Amino acid sequence: MEAPEKIYFTYNDIHRTIKKLAIEILDSGFDVDVIVAIGTGGFIPARMLKTFINRPVLTVGLSYYDLDNKPRDSIEKIQWIDEVEKKLTGKRILLVDEVDDSRYTLEYCLKELLTHKPSEMAVAVLHNKLKNKRGSIPAEITRYFQGADLEDLWICYPWDAQDIELQDKLANQN
Ligand code: G4P
Ligand code: MG
Repeated sequence: MEAPEKIYFTYNDIHRTIKKLAIEILDSGFDVDVIVAIGTGGFIPARMLKTFINRPVLTVGLSYYDLDNKPRDSIEKIQWIDEVEKKLTGKRILLVDEVDDSRYTLEYCLKELLTHKPSEMAVAVLHNKLKNKRGSIPAEITRYFQGADLEDLWICYPWDAQDIELQDKLANQN
């Protein structure tokens, strides 16, 4: 079987996508109170967004895969927000992740955060893969922002690279 096709991005590519995403969010009129990043993939995108949308960043850690990349029986909360009610209730939340793939983790996280009664919640992902999704975005979420729509390829992010020069070289061959 052939290895899945991959697509590589440089930090500069990511920066440009984040900037475009931030401008769309700002132009939409969605006035963010707090950014929630889903770790670990959402950490760096959320921090980059903060440069354009200067709001506090909270983080949650969820994992559907174990350290051997095997799916767990269920999603595991690696880390969660303390005193969530105080920080999220009545607030406009922007939930950030790097990729909307199966949407399974995203749905779980959105539903958990909705139990804390934010006044509004929007989703921002760097990349949305165009595919059949296992999960869905709850109806309460009225805004969904994506930096780019991509085919269902394996995305290689610069923060996963051990050799950043090679990453840049491969990205320039996309
Ligand atoms: P979703 O709800 O956001 O679509 O996430 P899903 O459960 O489908 O994704 C499971 C894991 O697979 C996530 O990592 C996600 O970041 C990762 N993933 C999915 N597609 C790609 C891809 O094309 N490239 C890369 N590099 N990762 C991908 P996770 O379990 O949250 O771990 P972490 O890496 O964020 O720590
Ligand atoms: Mg992730």
